[in-house]
Amino acid sequence: MNASTKVHAQWSSRMGFVLAATGSAVGLGNIWKFPYMVGESGGAAFVLVYLACIFLIGLPILVSEWLLGRRGQKNPVNTMRDLAEKNKASKAWVLVGISGVLGAFLILSFYSVIGGWSLSYIKDAVVSNFAGQDADGIGAIFGGLLASPATLLVWHSLFMLITIGIVARGVTKGLEGAATVLMPALAALLLLLVIYGATTSGFGQALSFMFSPDWSQLTGEVVLAALGHAFFTLSLGMGIMMAYGSYMGQSINLLQTARTVVIMDTVIALAAGMAIFPIVFAEGLDLSSGPGLIFVTLPLAFGNITGGWFVGVAFFILLTFAAITSAISLLEPVVEFVEERTPLNRVKSTLVSGVAAWALGLLALLSFNLLGDFLVFGLNIFDLLDQVTSKFMLPLTGLGGIVFVAWHLDKESVRDELGLDVYDFSLWNLITRFLAPAAVLVVFFTNL
Ligand code: PHE
Ligand code: NA
Repeated sequence: MNASTKVHAQWSSRMGFVLAATGSAVGLGNIWKFPYMVGESGGAAFVLVYLACIFLIGLPILVSEWLLGRRGQKNPVNTMRDLAEKNKASKAWVLVGISGVLGAFLILSFYSVIGGWSLSYIKDAVVSNFAGQDADGIGAIFGGLLASPATLLVWHSLFMLITIGIVARGVTKGLEGAATVLMPALAALLLLLVIYGATTSGFGQALSFMFSPDWSQLTGEVVLAALGHAFFTLSLGMGIMMAYGSYMGQSINLLQTARTVVIMDTVIALAAGMAIFPIVFAEGLDLSSGPGLIFVTLPLAFGNITGGWFVGVAFFILLTFAAITSAISLLEPVVEFVEERTPLNRVKSTLVSGVAAWALGLLALLSFNLLGDFLVFGLNIFDLLDQVTSKFMLPLTGLGGIVFVAWHLDKESVRDELGLDVYDFSLWNLITRFLAPAAVLVVFFTNL
């Protein structure tokens, strides 16, 4: 009796943890961003570099962030401060925590705008706006949305309001329960769309576009984009996974759990690509249509398949849900930070942080219309927020985390914690001390 209770308790806490981490990881990054980046970066070469980044750099950094969080038992800033002190390292390591919080804030601002697109597409799906439309008709729906600051404002505000409401009330528990049902449902629906894709004339072309590399497409820019997206998609370099690690029981196996989360995230992203590109090729759509890609491809399918109304409504509800679980994880570290550094209580800190991110989001939203010509370093505000975070802040912050684990923590204790034998631990050391940091730095500096 005792033994079985214990086993069950461990299992359910690991499940809860995996769900929370997967909820943060799986989001717009997988279904909205990954496919359009593949489209813009020329296909398979990007995909393969991305996969290498995920498994060789992302996975060890995920493990490192959890390990730091579990040891520090505090929010990312205090965790880094305490661990630096305890291990006699420089006080400057606290910067890893601070830049994580700042990155989360910046990402949330534009993430909410796209979450708003997804919400508005629930409405379009419900009122059958996609039914019987051709590519031009679908394109016009998307174009109309982008051209109207007022409409974008409504949906962006609604998305942020939902996120603020959930974080303020701390109802993450209920969400975990919902995620147990909704995440698999999202995966099942994507699978259905991949099957639909397989029936179109574009499927073969889509597969070779995604998996058969043309290495001439590989530029330093593409590698940096792949690396940055590996961080974005796994929610790394933002203190989020560090914060999650601080709730994690000692019995949870870090490597095994990281593998589960990384595989789920990767499968969803690849499935999204395999659902979208067949439609792109079959309909002769523009591969490099950027952030609009899923919003001009999938509705075409929804408008033309039997049961398309139901699939479309379900898809955008699930996409929105995935976006919300990620947005919550983005707001959380910011709120924690404000709550601790100011006299504000939980609810007020959530309001202040959420409203500030919402306000910055307004600038991101306007860059699709009124502020479209307002460029900083040649980028509009939306692209600037996206690129500064993904390409610079996340990789450097994540690098900080892994370097700290590899060079400042006691080696024996890390080996024990990861449960590695001597052989595997030398591989871990090789990757975390040299390969991963070198890869990040090389990619980073070749692009400066
Ligand atoms: N990982 C999330 C996604 O892929 C986005 C995210 C980034 C969430 C950073 C939290 C932190 O959509
Ligand atoms: Na992701």
